Amino acid sequence: MPAHVAVIMDGNGRWAKSRALPRHAGHRSGVKSVRQTVEMAAQRGVSYLTLFAFSSENWRRPADEVGRLMGLFLEALQREVDDLHRNNVRVTFIGARELLQAELVAKISAAEQKTINNDGLRLMVAVAYGGRWDIVNAARKLAAMVAAGELSADDLNDDNFAAELALGDVPDPDLLIRTGGEQRISNFLLWNLAYAELFFSESLWPDFGQQDFDAALDFYASRQRRYGFTGDQVA
Ligand code: IPE
Ligand code: IPE
Ligand code: MG
Repeated sequence: MPAHVAVIMDGNGRWAKSRALPRHAGHRSGVKSVRQTVEMAAQRGVSYLTLFAFSSENWRRPADEVGRLMGLFLEALQREVDDLHRNNVRVTFIGARELLQAELVAKISAAEQKTINNDGLRLMVAVAYGGRWDIVNAARKLAAMVAAGELSADDLNDDNFAAELALGDVPDPDLLIRTGGEQRISNFLLWNLAYAELFFSESLWPDFGQQDFDAALDFYASRQRRYGFTGDQVA
């Protein structure tokens, strides 16, 4: 069983298009897959779940679509936070939140504060997130520490670098699931996915359900993770 599952939730637009609906109808339909996936992850004993909801590149979309997505985040957060809390989920958001509307930032902080002591599933939602943004952000913080004399440049290593990334002390994803059929990373967790097993599903995100999730877990269970060792070494 993977301890940490990361998901690129892709295919909402195509789901809507195939039904002659506007793209935002696909995003709305995708919210129930989010809910289901959180439930399945908790049920199956996954400890960490990171969901890619909006990338640093998605700002390039038409203003109407971006606005509706932000509205949907606000609405879903408002509606789901009590349930998440009741289910002992701790929710945090990763990404450039200073780019989000004040109202959404306030709701995000409130949800994080409310659930901060929960010790069930840890749910990370990536909004306005980009892997390159994350790495540059960490480098900026480390450079400031070096300039302040708190850290020597020679002491920089994998561990203290990773600690400044958005996921901080959360262990790296073991399994990455991408729905919607594309086989690319799209600037998701560039550093943290270094040794993730990659599972690509043809299902569009609004259609993603229990069968797809279990297929991903089965795929993961069949992999031998070698981390550079030989197969015999890890067997
Ligand atoms: C994923 O679905 C949701 C976001 C990126 C916000 P898309 O909106 O990318 O759906 P497709 O890829 O156009 O079908
Ligand atoms: C990746 O999907 C981002 C999210 C799912 C939030 P995109 O639909 O933006 O990815 P590309 O542009 O097809 O690579
Ligand atoms: Mg897409």
